[in-house]
Amino acid sequence: MTRVVGIDLGTTYSAVAVADRSGSPSIVRNREGENITPSVVMFQGETVVVGSQAKRSAVTAPDDVVQFVKRYMGETNPVYQSESGTAYRPEEISGLLLKRLKEDAEMMLGEPVEQAVITVPAYFDDVRRRATQDAGKLAGLEVLRIVNEPTAAALAYGIAESDGESGTEIGTVLVYDLGGGTFDVTVMRVVDGDYEVTATDGDRNLGGFDWDGALMNFLNDAFMAAGGPDLNEDSALQAELRDKAEIAKRTLSNAPQAVVMLSAGGKHEQIRVTREKFEEISAELLDRTRIITEGVLQEARLDWSGIDKVLLVGGSTRMPMVQALIERLSDKEPERGISQDEVVALGAALVALDAAVRKEDAEEKKKYVGSGASTESAPGDGLARLTKGKVKSIKDVTSQSLGMVTTRETNRNDQYNSVIIPHNTSVPAKKSETFYTLDDMQSRLRVQVTEGHDEDLDYVKVVGESTLDIPQYPKAGAPFEVTYSYDVDGIIHVELKDGTTGKWIGEFELERPDNLGAEEMAEATDRVARAATL
Ligand SMILES: Nc1ncnc2c1ncn2[C@@H]1O[C@H](COP(=O)(O)OP(=O)(O)OP(=O)(O)O)[C@@H](O)[C@H]1O
Ligand SMILES: [Mg+2]
Repeated sequence: MTRVVGIDLGTTYSAVAVADRSGSPSIVRNREGENITPSVVMFQGETVVVGSQAKRSAVTAPDDVVQFVKRYMGETNPVYQSESGTAYRPEEISGLLLKRLKEDAEMMLGEPVEQAVITVPAYFDDVRRRATQDAGKLAGLEVLRIVNEPTAAALAYGIAESDGESGTEIGTVLVYDLGGGTFDVTVMRVVDGDYEVTATDGDRNLGGFDWDGALMNFLNDAFMAAGGPDLNEDSALQAELRDKAEIAKRTLSNAPQAVVMLSAGGKHEQIRVTREKFEEISAELLDRTRIITEGVLQEARLDWSGIDKVLLVGGSTRMPMVQALIERLSDKEPERGISQDEVVALGAALVALDAAVRKEDAEEKKKYVGSGASTESAPGDGLARLTKGKVKSIKDVTSQSLGMVTTRETNRNDQYNSVIIPHNTSVPAKKSETFYTLDDMQSRLRVQVTEGHDEDLDYVKVVGESTLDIPQYPKAGAPFEVTYSYDVDGIIHVELKDGTTGKWIGEFELERPDNLGAEEMAEATDRVARAATL
């Protein structure tokens, strides 16, 4: 069996882990000997510097440094433009980062690493998941699974907690995951080795980055009040301010106050921030996490008394305000068994092991039963065997509602979103709807797939669309059955059946305008392969 690694591709830090055959995961260090690698890329001519060295250069060479790209995954604007004019999209920057992580893992493990499981925030939608898969491909990795970060964390935590031979029993767990760029809350049941997510929600633009931003504003205002220039006016000064704010923020997790030294335009100023002040200026951010957390509990039809354990994941949960919030809401001490910044990668390594074993089993089975027979197994089947039932199954849910743009029969100009698979449905999920042609001799059917809960199209996102040739029927009103599905990775598929004959017409190749096209992928693959990553 080749080694499949688990990768936590984070907004600020990434980590790689691998599990041995007994189901025990461990971190694979990078070439610098660090457990986690800053998700920072610096362009230096033909060379791409990744990790700590690039992060250190963010202050001195801010224009050559690209970071926080996870925030922009699935968006089409370039995040970096090279001197020679090449525009880099977020996938490609992530691809470069993953290439470096892959090389480091190969060095440490002493064998090639060709397959990986990559984690994403549970709240990532189809486009962002697809963009993450593409980033893996660009790095030369076969991405066996995309898995939700909170689910991976719960799995690593569960395995670490289970001592006996039998299935892990934790009860109902709430995972509060506040990282560098994203926030996720997931409620799951862990009973007798079955891991089952019941509800999830989040904000993909809420993380330590925003706490840094609040502190930056405070510091900059204080500096300006003392007669200094506006540090946000200059990219180098702003990068330095961000760096100092982040360090002060970390200090405030351990100390009641921090002092920041700012100098610019001939002005030098020492600014003191107390933890109390920091909590005051970021109170609104923290409250956003509370609102989302309470919403998820409601979705799961639970109150805090129904939660047995609260698991804190992500570096930002080290802030005392987060722990205080959780204790106040839940009346419980949160769990901090495994390091907040490693637990997601460790869980990803377990999913990777599961995927590898299932793949191996499927290939073995094929040899005996021939290619026609079903060789499918469910997530967790591989681990069930290796961990003697500590893990038996892993079931996740969709974080987004899936639907389509629908035209009202009474008024063709009136379009709305009809939800087909509501959010928090267990995946894989499949549902069919029958639609009727609007015209006599209609020869094509256009399907626009949406993500979002609202009926109003202004509040949902059209993730892809496709036009398919259909058999012509003389009269309008011919039935066509559209089957929507979310696969285990949370990625959308759409198939079509002729309702009159019952024949499958095929799968819609959804055009995803926000993802890289085949040609762009080919070009970027080539560039990433050629780049020397340091
Ligand atoms: N001691 C600390 N006090 C406060 N914040 C901290 C501390 N240590 C780390 N952080 C913050 O945690 C964040 C990084 O956490 P983590 O590595 O979990 O995020 P990530 O995986 O990069 O992001 P995401 O999961 O959102 O993509 C950064 O914003 C960092 O400033
Ligand atoms: Mg993370």
